[in-house]
Amino acid sequence: MKTHARALGAHIAYPPRVGVRKVSWRVPDPSYRPVLFTHSSVLGASWADKDVTVMTAKERSRLCHRPTRAGRKPSSLARMGFVDKRRMPRNPVGRTGMRGRGLLGRYGANFAADPIVTRRNPADRTVLQMVTITRRDTGELAIPGGMVEYGETVNQTLRKEFYEEALRSEEGNDKMTAGLQAKIDAVFDKGGALVYAGYVDDPRNTDDAWMETEVHHFHLDDDLAAQIPLQAGDDAQGVAWEDLTPAMRLYASHKDWVDVVRHRSRLRSFGK
Ligand code: BGC
Repeated sequence: MKTHARALGAHIAYPPRVGVRKVSWRVPDPSYRPVLFTHSSVLGASWADKDVTVMTAKERSRLCHRPTRAGRKPSSLARMGFVDKRRMPRNPVGRTGMRGRGLLGRYGANFAADPIVTRRNPADRTVLQMVTITRRDTGELAIPGGMVEYGETVNQTLRKEFYEEALRSEEGNDKMTAGLQAKIDAVFDKGGALVYAGYVDDPRNTDDAWMETEVHHFHLDDDLAAQIPLQAGDDAQGVAWEDLTPAMRLYASHKDWVDVVRHRSRLRSFGK
């Protein structure tokens, strides 16, 4: 069973959801009346879908053929049965108490990409560390990830978000050199090791729109890790190397994926 807690909880920019008695769509609930909510910043935005109420019949009919990673492999929502009677995408985990898109731009799956970048702690090489950012919106520690924008591949997003949030590439990073950039690019060119692909239990999710992500792990050797000029940029207000510990607290489901990397590192010794 997938975790379904944050998607039933509160979000600061959202009205309250209606209480959900039956999560699974397989269990009929004729009394279910989800709140309809799409945030004003989404309506009419160039990066977002048109609202379904102003779509043409053809645009509307395409929605149920969008891809999802809910079953790990990419597949069409219609083929996987994640569409409702109106032929609209439907949350693959179940009811959330809200319809509409909330703060999400796309009906169906909204894709993010999250790079977990690790090194060995220079003071204790038995401990793995990762690059974390402090998110400007919630103040929580997080993986420096972001949304896959239209026309972008997951690999491009992984690299772009790391550069923007952890290396301050947009505002300018005076410690970045062409040589260092080439070394970092070479790490991202390899694509990293896949950690997770699929649905995310995110507080922005609704019945009609939800987050999915692909998480990749990249390990830096001691030499490159010592030189990498971390500086917070874009949506990040801080950036740091943090020890991977069972007690660490991270945004959304990020801890689950970091735990996978921590467990794998016990089985294989990265960079030893
Ligand atoms: C974040 C990702 C996160 C995803 C799902 C995105 O906004 O940038 O790091 O995994 O939401 O919660």
